[in-house]
Amino acid sequence: MKQLHWIKSPIAPAEGAAITFRKEFSLSKPIAQATLYVSAVGVYRVFLNGKKQGRQVLTPGFTSYTSRVQYETLDVTASLQAENRLELTVAPGWAVGHIGYDGGKKAWADHMRAACRLELTYTDGTVQTVEGDSSFEVWTHEVTFADIYHGETIDKTYIPELLGNALPDDDQYPLVPQQGADITEQEYIAPVKLIVTPKGERVLDFGQNMTGYVSLRIKGKRGERVVLTHAEVLDKDGNFYNANYRTAQNRLTFVLSGDEDFFKPGYSFQGFRYVRIDEYPEQAIDPNAFRAIVVHSDLTRTGRFACGDAKINQLYHNIIWGHKSNYLDIPTDCPQRDERLGWTGDTQVFCRTAAINYDVRPFFKKWLGDLRAEQEPNGAIWGTCPEKFASDYHTRIATGWGDVCTIVPWTLYEMYGDDSFLSENFEMMRRWVEYMHGAGPEEFLWLGGTHYGDWLAMDADQDSCAGATSTDLIASAFFANSVDLLIRSGEVLGKDMTEYKTLYANIVKAFRSYFMENGMPKETIAAVSDAERAKDKYDIPVKKGMTQTAIVLILHFNLCLPEERKALVDKLEELIHAFGDKMSTGFLGTPYILHVLSENGRSELAYKLFFNEDNPSWLYSVNHGATTMWEHWNSVKEDGSFWSTSMNSFNHYAYGAVADWMYGKICGVTVLEPGYRRVRLSPAPCERLGFAKCGIDTVQGRLESHWYYADGRICFEFTVPNGCEAEIVLPNGQTETVGGGSYCYSVAQ
Ligand code: BGC
Repeated sequence: MKQLHWIKSPIAPAEGAAITFRKEFSLSKPIAQATLYVSAVGVYRVFLNGKKQGRQVLTPGFTSYTSRVQYETLDVTASLQAENRLELTVAPGWAVGHIGYDGGKKAWADHMRAACRLELTYTDGTVQTVEGDSSFEVWTHEVTFADIYHGETIDKTYIPELLGNALPDDDQYPLVPQQGADITEQEYIAPVKLIVTPKGERVLDFGQNMTGYVSLRIKGKRGERVVLTHAEVLDKDGNFYNANYRTAQNRLTFVLSGDEDFFKPGYSFQGFRYVRIDEYPEQAIDPNAFRAIVVHSDLTRTGRFACGDAKINQLYHNIIWGHKSNYLDIPTDCPQRDERLGWTGDTQVFCRTAAINYDVRPFFKKWLGDLRAEQEPNGAIWGTCPEKFASDYHTRIATGWGDVCTIVPWTLYEMYGDDSFLSENFEMMRRWVEYMHGAGPEEFLWLGGTHYGDWLAMDADQDSCAGATSTDLIASAFFANSVDLLIRSGEVLGKDMTEYKTLYANIVKAFRSYFMENGMPKETIAAVSDAERAKDKYDIPVKKGMTQTAIVLILHFNLCLPEERKALVDKLEELIHAFGDKMSTGFLGTPYILHVLSENGRSELAYKLFFNEDNPSWLYSVNHGATTMWEHWNSVKEDGSFWSTSMNSFNHYAYGAVADWMYGKICGVTVLEPGYRRVRLSPAPCERLGFAKCGIDTVQGRLESHWYYADGRICFEFTVPNGCEAEIVLPNGQTETVGGGSYCYSVAQ
């Protein structure tokens, strides 16, 4: 397609205000086809003769804008008439509004831009184009303020003013066709109640923590206002609480026209369950006039899980909602405070679960493109993506976070069998491995550096985020794992991986001699860079080798000899008992701990941890009324008080990665060959659950695993899609290999 060009306003609009690029044109002949190509630096909605075009919202989504901005291609034929008005409303969005951490800043662009072309094909075969150029007028807009973090003001009394004709802009911000999944309004939720809190505030409860915005239908006097502030939780006294949003105001202001109005934000989003009504015209509040509109990337649901335990079903519900809330165009850490960033650690931790629950292929095709675009020349991968906010404004190059670039492509290849995830990303994976190779003073270990470590682990110091496990050990273990994934990927692609196999062998050897003795991690690890790390506010110079997370990583990444496994698992069990039969693991250890226990003959202990209800556990938050996953195991403490406001999200999906174990171990579905070409079905029945079943719409077709207790026996029902070979392994050791079809078994209890 012929290149689109940017245009801009001749006069800077008021801070945060939306503007409209407008053009009127007439058609002289009947139209056969009209196609609109459109984009903006900012977020936009496009209207033809007053009708919104396309199903998407918050377009063009969040990319690494200086490398690429997506444009949409819309069929607008049905909206054309003889006289036409094309309007492209642009608000600051991620690109021009606040974004980043520590309050965010305007990082990507200093002003909004628009680009469009309308291609008209007449029935007589002639073609005409309407170019987005200086023939467009620029007007102010009734959205007088919009910011991703701070919310939106819609003033229905506002009379738009002409700012002048658009000016051509430079060619920064390259345009590319939309690659990601559509961002759409997905669900409409009515409030479950209107609460008057002990402080006398009026608060709507939508019953579910979510991402999106609130609409309102109302008639009042001209100029009257409705002001809404959002929150995820109430405090222990039942009062509205939003201090954990930090600087993000998440406020909606609606100014009434005097006629019947329908307000719906479109240029910001909020993460919330509760909405406080700060201002309202002098009339009774009609809760039914409000709707919460859930917004996220439009992904096809592929995985479902259910069992006979209501609390575990609630946990699963919370995982799904954590997922929906944090897959709004990019994989975010959380959808509400002044972050909402594509944190790479969180992304890699959750990606396998995500790829079972939903078809995430287009979503990740796009995001991995941004990750590639932002890889540093030396191979480094940042802590978030999109990341390049500004040259002075970076996250860390950290172990377990940067490894997203090897873990995600490999996981997607395993789940979908599509090797384009490997071929497109192989060079990025290789360069990241080479970055780690040269990162520290030792060639085969990653020592030093500034990491997040086993973030939020329970063995961290009081109110600290840095877990106790040596970051040198963690970084070297992830280095080994990334090289392993690189080798496997290279082999799939038919590359000679000899050099990297030698590197891998050297890393494992160096790891074992530096961090282990007698087949065990050393108690303490001599820290290489205490001084460097002590400078940082989150990192304490941690040196522990003998932790749950260290053993979990050694076992999961296969850094031990086969004959050392049993003693390591015994030691892990001992450490769990010593910690009150609980996990001390954080972001990096938790995703693997139950897998490691189940795979090494400690299924009962895995279940014990899974069923724990005290802090730290998955059910602790369920017992405290959670409807999404929390950032901390105990975001609400036992006494009802909250974790520090600086870091306390109630919608952080990372610990939801346990769903991968629920499908994989409770229902027993293990992918043995990429794209579910071969699987093992080896469920782990347990009486507390009573039954468990899952259905996964794999690329081969529908796979089901179901077990239940009946008449003193345990019954198993499996559905295997054609194109898939399944190795069925029952708890009594009975094994059978089958092809597509349905299978039932029962064994004595
Ligand atoms: C985010 C995390 C992220 C972390 C880095 C936090 O502020 O919310 O989820 O991974 O920073 O450690």
